[in-house]
Amino acid sequence: MDASDRVVLKCIDCGREYQPIDVYECECGGLLDAHINLDWAGSVVSKALFDKRLGSREKILRSGIWRYKELVNPMADDLCIITRPEGNTGLYENKRLLAYTGLSSVMLKHEGENPTGSFKDRGMSPGVSEAVRLRMKVVACASTGNTSASMAAYASMAGLKPVVFIPEGKIAYGKLAQALAYGSKVIQVRGNFDDAMKLVRESSRKLGMYLLNSVNPWRIEGQKTIMIELMHQLSWNQPDWVCVPAGNLGNTSAFGKALEELKALGFIEKMPRIASIQADGANPFYLLWKKKAGSLTAVEHPDTIATAIKIGNPVSWKKALRSINATNGVVEQVSDQEIMDAKAIIDGCGICCEPASAASLAGARKLVKSGVIKRDESVVCVITGNILKDPEATVKYHLSELEGITPKYANAPTVIDSRLEEVERAINAP
Ligand code: F0G
Repeated sequence: MDASDRVVLKCIDCGREYQPIDVYECECGGLLDAHINLDWAGSVVSKALFDKRLGSREKILRSGIWRYKELVNPMADDLCIITRPEGNTGLYENKRLLAYTGLSSVMLKHEGENPTGSFKDRGMSPGVSEAVRLRMKVVACASTGNTSASMAAYASMAGLKPVVFIPEGKIAYGKLAQALAYGSKVIQVRGNFDDAMKLVRESSRKLGMYLLNSVNPWRIEGQKTIMIELMHQLSWNQPDWVCVPAGNLGNTSAFGKALEELKALGFIEKMPRIASIQADGANPFYLLWKKKAGSLTAVEHPDTIATAIKIGNPVSWKKALRSINATNGVVEQVSDQEIMDAKAIIDGCGICCEPASAASLAGARKLVKSGVIKRDESVVCVITGNILKDPEATVKYHLSELEGITPKYANAPTVIDSRLEEVERAINAP
């Protein structure tokens, strides 16, 4: 078989196929899907091969993305791969999580442990590596913060020029700091994320910038490895459910694709059900699913404390819906109060995350309460970002300074005069 038969890009709207794989979107403007030739992949990968690579010292194979490279981008050129390496993220259990959700088995997979502090590195490594292979000079993205931080880091490592479009004044400081520090051109767009997204798509086409939002199929391919690595960690024994925070819907899209491919290859027996969790102030995908609508209606003024998922017009909704349907999944929404309380629980276990990440645990709890998830089913919640991305939200929660939120698990500091008795009193206070 010709090596080029290992993967083709196919438009999910008009069906047009692209080989060579040198484009990131279809001429019709539709999203492209990477179709990996699973007959070929099945003949070269195995559980034993992936186990063997776990012990490798080679930089590329130590990455939790490139260890599975045949399932990510079979045409990737090893010499062009930009990797830190990524992945190998922890899977955590804690009694407090059981008490909080009412489940008998719940684990958190912490994607905030990636090099720039969020799952975005999973998609950015393959995306930037493709930009290098294609000899692009400038890469671009719109972002609520984490994509820009990740792209800026990987592009700078590769010697490319990163240009990030962010909604003015609406991204958490930790993320803005990263984008600036890693040397990207930061363009603050007067408007929200959806305005920035529209603008970056148009400018990338016109100005020849390589777009690295999750419309780029290699972003999705890389993010598939969250599921592949998770199943590998669980010795290919799938949980009953995977809960994931949902904004622009790249992860929801990637997870379903990964699970379908793993099942087709015989790595897992059945697919876990995906529960995609939105903030109730930025819930277009929830509304689409709930109303069984044929197409997505954008939420005009999305609003949530979880700024990472403050998105009203998610680009990947068609692919995400395919994931929900393929896995017999569900879409749920949670309030900012539920998000921040779930975050306090995760933080209190010493695991820690940024607000959007906690939507997955908040969603799991809500779905258990409503009986959709049974108490004896096993659940993995994906945690998407590091706590230090948005310290302001955390501190304000504990100081009871968040408007409209009553912090159930507040842990405010105690102020004392500098005297021993006061120390004793403070320590013994509840
Ligand atoms: N969690 C975090 C921490 C995020 O940064 C994002 C998305 C999501 C969840 C939602 O994931 O888009 O795949 O549904 N952040 C993007 C950004 C939009 O620009 O950083 P999704």
